[in-house]
Amino acid sequence: MLVDADLRAGAEVDWTGRYRGATPAVVRPADAAEVASVLLACAASGVAVVPQGGNTGLVGGSVPLHGEVVLSTRRLDTLGPVDPLAAQVTVGAGATLEAVGGHVAPHGLVPGIDLGARATATIGGMVATNAGGNQHLRHGSMRARVAGVEAVLANGSIVSRLHGLEKDNTGYDLTGLLCGSEGTLGVVTAVRLRLAPAPKDLVTCLVALTSVDAAMAALMTFRQAGTVLEAAELMLPEGLELVARQLGVTVPLDVRQGVGALLLLEWAGGMAGGEAVALVEGVVDVAVAEDPGPRRALWRLREGHTEAVGALGTPHKLDVTLPLHAVAGFIAEVGAVVERVAGGARCVIWGHAADGNLHVNVVGPDPADERVDDAVLRLVAHRGGSISAEHGIGGAKRRWLHLARSEAEIAALRAIKAALDPGGLLNPHVLFP
Ligand code: FAD
Ligand code: MLT
Ligand code: ZN
Repeated sequence: MLVDADLRAGAEVDWTGRYRGATPAVVRPADAAEVASVLLACAASGVAVVPQGGNTGLVGGSVPLHGEVVLSTRRLDTLGPVDPLAAQVTVGAGATLEAVGGHVAPHGLVPGIDLGARATATIGGMVATNAGGNQHLRHGSMRARVAGVEAVLANGSIVSRLHGLEKDNTGYDLTGLLCGSEGTLGVVTAVRLRLAPAPKDLVTCLVALTSVDAAMAALMTFRQAGTVLEAAELMLPEGLELVARQLGVTVPLDVRQGVGALLLLEWAGGMAGGEAVALVEGVVDVAVAEDPGPRRALWRLREGHTEAVGALGTPHKLDVTLPLHAVAGFIAEVGAVVERVAGGARCVIWGHAADGNLHVNVVGPDPADERVDDAVLRLVAHRGGSISAEHGIGGAKRRWLHLARSEAEIAALRAIKAALDPGGLLNPHVLFP
């Protein structure tokens, strides 16, 4: 248990610096039984608990904003034997995505989910947020990658579905319920993960296009051509120039002339998939990488966006999804909406193109000023989108939950919360308005 102020400090502030709280203690149990003891002790003392994994969450859900005890899962980091027949592995909730990737690689397998925070984000945190990432178009979100979980509920009971059975129709799906529950229904202590064959001969292309419309249409062309994309990420010229400037990296294309959008595309199986770029209309220029070093350099341009925006100031991070047909129109409109409520603010947008998932980042308004969040989220709802694509609701978006969920749905969610956590022990200040 960490009680010294300097040892608690890192657990009290989120990755962006926008959300900062205080905790009496950071408790670090080493197994499910110890997690249960912590929950029972906190319940007895009337202190709420915030589960925390890698603390890379971007919606203020992993930090003690209301004086909660922080339950860190980082010591739950076991890596079980890989089952190559089932292509599954059981890991502790505190294992990082990178550690799991390294553990399963010798078997020619991958977790089938990937994100820029891989070195720090934990598997338990990824379950709790139902993380998406850059392979969602190929393998789905965390919910699809999870065959079962072990978790400790608010009453200290341990529920475990780690047998890895691919078919198991025996009533309510507790595993699915815990995916995306944001620490409100239980503490995930172990996860049975589905694995995927490691893709071979990856080719990565950075494609500059005339417009966002052309970029979205390109995705349809690839689908119609029957090529299977491993990733399709969207960037805009201003964002790419920001990354180049802030991180001192080189962009291999000239994005100043006639470029309205960029796609970072990846295929397995050598150039066969990449050749489909020739079928696309509106291509201005292409950079292709096949070797690991140059491929990583292209990915750095995409994944560097989070860091580059963070270097400008504390960002308002608005992770949203739009119907694919509405993506270009939304991007064309959102800048003016931001300017209207936060004149002079910097708005940087990128995302996971094939999922209609945009990351709208606004730097300028005070971190506590929510007018820009309100305006952007209302525009998203107006255009038929969701106020959270992959980061969750956390504390940051709970006042806008009604934009994505009906009254009846919110009542059903509240009933589930009340049934599993009647005392409001687990992360009581996230998700619900
Ligand atoms: P934390 O931040 O510690 O916690 C997140 C939430 O989960 C909190 O509500 C917390 O209470 C709860 N929680 C954590 N562990 C548990 C547990 N064991 N049991 C119950 N509840 C728990 N996200 C994406 O989806 N896609 C991306 O592409 C992506 N890229 C990112 C890139 C960068 C550079 C950064 C900083 C973040 C990115 N994220 C992305 C967001 C973040 O990495 C994910 O939300 C991730 O799933 C959080 O994992 P974590 O272990 O850090 O969880
Ligand atoms: C991303 O895809 O870059 C992430 O979800 C992180 C972010 O939004 O900053
Ligand atoms: Zn993302």
